[in-house]
Amino acid sequence: MKITGKTRITGVFGYPVGHSLSPLFQNAAFEYLKLDCVYIPMEVAPEEIGKAIEGIRALNFAGVNITIPHKRAVLKYLDGIDEEAKLLGAVNTVVNKNGKLKGYTTDGSGFTRSLKESCGFTIRGKKVFILGSGGSSYAISGALAKGKVSRIYICNRTEKKAILLKRHLFKNLGYKSVEVVPFGERNDKKIWLDIQLLINTTSVGMKKGDPLLIDSENLAGDKFVYDIVYNRKTELLKAAEKKGLRCLDGLSMLIYQGAISFELWTGKTAPVEVMKRSVYL
Ligand code: ATR
Repeated sequence: MKITGKTRITGVFGYPVGHSLSPLFQNAAFEYLKLDCVYIPMEVAPEEIGKAIEGIRALNFAGVNITIPHKRAVLKYLDGIDEEAKLLGAVNTVVNKNGKLKGYTTDGSGFTRSLKESCGFTIRGKKVFILGSGGSSYAISGALAKGKVSRIYICNRTEKKAILLKRHLFKNLGYKSVEVVPFGERNDKKIWLDIQLLINTTSVGMKKGDPLLIDSENLAGDKFVYDIVYNRKTELLKAAEKKGLRCLDGLSMLIYQGAISFELWTGKTAPVEVMKRSVYL
C-alpha cells in the first residue's frame, strides 16, 4: 500500500479500537480494487468525539465507521442522518460529501445481505427467534420487520427491554407480529416447532464456558442459526453444526456491514469474497 498526499482516509472511531478487524478487510478491499484509500483504527475518548467528527471535515476524510461507545453520541455532530439510523438512534457509518457529514447504519442491512448472499436465505415470511434486546437486536429486528418476516419472538434476560423493543417495532415500523417470550420459557417446545431462524444477539458465547441458552434438542429440523458473536465459535454454533443446521457467525455480519460502508464511501461494489478471505485466513 502506497500512501501519498492524495490518499483518501477512512477508518473507525472507537474506544478502544485495538481489537478491530475492520482495518484488515477494508484495506484488503482497497488494495484489491487499487483504490488510493486507507482505513485506520482511531482511538477517540468519549469526551473528544465532537472534535474528532469535526476532524473528518478538516482533514477531508472520505468517512469513518463509528463503534462503541460513540454510536449514539455522534448524532448531534452530523449534518444529516439517514432514515434508518434516525429510527435506531445510532450511527455506524459517516460519509463526507463535500464537507457535509451524513450518518448511516449498516448493521441491519449487513445482517440481511449476509444471509442472502452467503447462504441464499431470504427472510421474507420466516418465523424468527431473537435472543437479546440490546443495540444489535434493535438493528437486526428492524431489518427483519422491514424484510417482512412473518413473526418475531423476542427473548431477553431483562424482559422489560424486550417489551420496549416490541413497542419500538410497532411504533416506528408499524410491525405488529411480535411475541415476547419470558427468558425462563425460552426452551418451550411449542415455540421451537415454529421457528425457522434463530439469532443470538447477546454476548453469551464470547467467553469459553458460557452456557448454551437454547437446548440442543430445540435445534432441529430445517432451522438456520445466526450467532453474531465473532471472536470464537460459540457453544450455540457448535451445537447447531452438530445437528447439521445451516449457520453463520458474527464475522459474516461484520464483513457485510463493512462492505456496505465501503460502498457508501467509494461508490464501488465491495469485493466481499476478498474481504472474507482476509479475515478467515
Ligand atoms: P449490543 O449493542 O451488542 O447489542 P448490549 O446493548 O450491551 O450490546 O446488549 C447485550 C445483550 O446481551 C442484552 O440483551 C443482554 O441482556 P440484558 O438486557 O438482560 O442485560 C444480553 N446479555 C448479556 N449477558 C447475558 C447473559 N449472561 N445472559 C443472557 N443475556 C445476556
